[in-house]
Amino acid sequence: AAKKAIEFIKNGMTIGLGTGSTVEVMIQELNKEIKKGLNIKCISTSNRTTKFANSFGIIIDEFDNVDSIDLTIDGADEVDPYMRGIKGGGGALLFEKIVASNSKKNIWIVDDSKLVNKLGNFPLPIEVIPFAARKLLSKFEAMKLNPVIRKIDTKNFITDSGNFIIDCKIGEIENPKELEFNLKMIPGVVEVGLFIDIADYIIIGYNDRTEILEK
Ligand code: A5P
Repeated sequence: AAKKAIEFIKNGMTIGLGTGSTVEVMIQELNKEIKKGLNIKCISTSNRTTKFANSFGIIIDEFDNVDSIDLTIDGADEVDPYMRGIKGGGGALLFEKIVASNSKKNIWIVDDSKLVNKLGNFPLPIEVIPFAARKLLSKFEAMKLNPVIRKIDTKNFITDSGNFIIDCKIGEIENPKELEFNLKMIPGVVEVGLFIDIADYIIIGYNDRTEILEK
């Protein structure tokens, strides 16, 4: 899937680089093309991706300094048949959603283990302002969202924007769009890991082939 996504990249494009292990495979493939002469600009969705890309000598441009992004290639944690997804397993959902919504086209690269009939088995990441975190935890508990504050060892996980993540083990989500809207209306919620109407193409990697879903 990572290799297939590279075929969409053309000389002169500005490319958004997503976050995660699948994207890192793609960046390694992309680096080979850059070394062969592919001339592109790159924007990153996380400190992790910037560091990874820089380790190959790939330069990351400032998001503010590019007028538009031609194509963003990102991973996903869960994908449903309507090309909706849960993202943020790596904690980069906020910048991923900002970069995606400023991109002309978005491609997700996933393996077939990410395909589900209904979203919600993967815990839904919700990025929250630390000041509101305990109150939001209680609110999400009352909403029966089974929330937990994401930790690394004993410390709260901190996003690239200095926020916390609350992971919600919801189970099958009947109406992802409505849930996204309702959660985003709560003060203190910064972003929700439901990505709806964002992916233009989803490239699914199977053991022996790839399949492409198109919007
Ligand atoms: C990062 O915050 C996520 O949205 C990633 O896109 C997602 O976790 C996919 O990561 P993997 O490719 O490592 O599964």
